[in-house]
Amino acid sequence: MRAVVVNQWGGPETLTVAELDRPAPGLGEVLVRVHAAGVNPVDWKTRATGGLIEWGAVPAVGWDVSGTVEAVGPGVTVFRPGDEVFGMPLFPRQAGGYAEYVVAPARHLAPKPESLTHVEAAALPLAALTAWQALVDTAGVQPGQRVLVHAAAGGVGHFAVQIAKALGAYVIGTASAGKHDLVRSLGADEVVDYRTVRFEDVVSDVDVVLDGLGGETAERSLKVLRPGGRLIVLPGPDDVPAETGAVRAEWMLVDPDHLGLREIAALVGRGALKPVVEAVLPLAEAAKAHELGEQGRTTGKIVLSVA
Ligand SMILES: NC(=O)c1ccc[n+]([C@@H]2O[C@H](COP(=O)([O-])OP(=O)(O)OC[C@H]3O[C@@H](n4cnc5c(N)ncnc54)[C@H](OP(=O)(O)O)[C@@H]3O)[C@@H](O)[C@H]2O)c1
Repeated sequence: MRAVVVNQWGGPETLTVAELDRPAPGLGEVLVRVHAAGVNPVDWKTRATGGLIEWGAVPAVGWDVSGTVEAVGPGVTVFRPGDEVFGMPLFPRQAGGYAEYVVAPARHLAPKPESLTHVEAAALPLAALTAWQALVDTAGVQPGQRVLVHAAAGGVGHFAVQIAKALGAYVIGTASAGKHDLVRSLGADEVVDYRTVRFEDVVSDVDVVLDGLGGETAERSLKVLRPGGRLIVLPGPDDVPAETGAVRAEWMLVDPDHLGLREIAALVGRGALKPVVEAVLPLAEAAKAHELGEQGRTTGKIVLSVA
């Protein structure tokens, strides 16, 4: 099978397409024929340095996939060959999602939302699960609460706006002015142009901040929280500011949980969640997809078309 591998940790040019043996599903595992693979910042961050990921013998990046079950290993009862599935298997261990086939524990996958193409479904797993696990599992957002989503037009942000809205929250997003119409169309009640306005000057009494930027944005976000408020920081544990007053600040790592995927698929099914896909590139152009993503300006998601 064709798979994108990393020759040595470094720039996008270190990604190459290799011929590898097609993996076989073991006990409790599913072999998925990948139709599309989603691209996430963790893909290029780990391509650059290896990061904290547990790699296999041949480093192969990528986690988000949507495809068709090709075969199941012994003991798998929830999927059969031919089922259409999506997920982000094995994270934070190597999955090798930029490939024609991946093997996944059965419970790292869920049925693909029927209304979506494989390209759209591959945009969902890591970014939408992050938003779901931050807002629902971690912060327990309740109807009427005020939620501030930074980088609201990005991969995680555009899902977080929609999920927070579906939970009944009052949603505020930060984005550059050209993206405000999109962020509003996703359900944001207010959008702040972070390039011309300091968000802490115009936003207050927030229950939950979801911060995909870290650094000084995380520090400044503490000022907008009400007592008891929660700041969830995504880039890394070093981005979490020291807590001040009666607020909680923490880093969260996404988990490849099939229950969250099923909740996300249900939201898609009832029209409350829709991925925005900015660019689709062929598998062989994974390096170009990384170059594009690393500019940090992505609206929604970048996806690789595999099949
Ligand atoms: N901990 C975890 O489990 C986890 C999971 C997922 C993601 N992450 C991390 O979370 C971060 C975000 O991921 P992502 O997939 O959402 O990234 P992304 O899609 O690459 O984010 C791009 C977006 O960021 C916006 N942006 C850049 N600077 C901004 C600023 N100062 N204020 C507001 N918006 C700004 C850009 O909008 P403009 O063009 O308008 O600037 C663009 O739309 C990454 O560091 C990623 O590694 C962590």
